[in-house]
Amino acid sequence: MDASTPKIAVQDLSLAYGGTEVIHGITFDVRPNEILGIIGPARSGKTSLLRCLNRTIDFVAGTRVTGEIRIDGADIRAVRDVHALRRTIGMVAPLPVGLPLSIYDNVAFAPRCAGLTRRAELDPLVERCLRQAALWDEVKDRLDNLGTALSGGQQQRLTIARALSHQPEILCLDEFSIAIDPVTTMRIEDVLRELRREITIILVTNLTHQARRLTDRTMFLWNGRIIELDRSEVIFSDQPSRKETLEYVNGIFG
Ligand SMILES: Nc1ncnc2c1ncn2[C@@H]1O[C@H](COP(=O)(O)OP(=O)(O)OP(=O)(O)O)[C@@H](O)[C@H]1O
Ligand SMILES: [Mg+2]
Repeated sequence: MDASTPKIAVQDLSLAYGGTEVIHGITFDVRPNEILGIIGPARSGKTSLLRCLNRTIDFVAGTRVTGEIRIDGADIRAVRDVHALRRTIGMVAPLPVGLPLSIYDNVAFAPRCAGLTRRAELDPLVERCLRQAALWDEVKDRLDNLGTALSGGQQQRLTIARALSHQPEILCLDEFSIAIDPVTTMRIEDVLRELRREITIILVTNLTHQARRLTDRTMFLWNGRIIELDRSEVIFSDQPSRKETLEYVNGIFG
């Protein structure tokens, strides 16, 4: 595999729930170590698209996925170990999903499931993930406290630490800042800028300014179709290729 191989290559992807198609034959690439933004109105298919990438869409009965998704060139439907695929892709949901466990155990949960049990291995991993999520300094003296007792912004950073604990190559964040304050949001944005040196990031956001600040390229998804995908400086300029993009970014619709 050479350096020009996309990290993710999506080819003619369609998704239907029951008989209703909600993603209509979309094709795009995600490049290694880029931050790709996905913007678009409610029900455009943003969350559904993320679910296709890690195949958690398989859990929803009655779905039909056609087309192809390749990660590092390999077709994700041909993978033998779907759990390994899901470990490759960290997911952060809009609201923190804490396990009713200590802060330490939240982060150690997935590594333990993968067979890592020695404290000598787990301790540095837990510390590294909490540092990467910019949470370590606030919790290092109370790792045994319940994760669910942290503030909303801290819990969201704990969710990011958990997503990093299985050392993903791709991190998807779905409107991660919907319930957190602007200061914490900025801290997490700094975290993402650091992380992109090591991993590839897909950022679903309805915050136009956030996409403009953080992303290399941005996809405008609308009703399950890509209206435009380009460098973010083009998407957020006064001259994107499509009139719909200009209108959406400027809040004229959506
Ligand atoms: N489990 C499901 N069963 C049936 N339809 C679904 C399911 N999940 C999503 N949909 C439908 O798929 C379409 C896309 O929804 P999706 O949640 O992917 O959009 P979204 O862009 O993430 O929206 P939002 O900005 O509100 O989060 C919508 O019409 C939605 O009703
Ligand atoms: Mg969504």
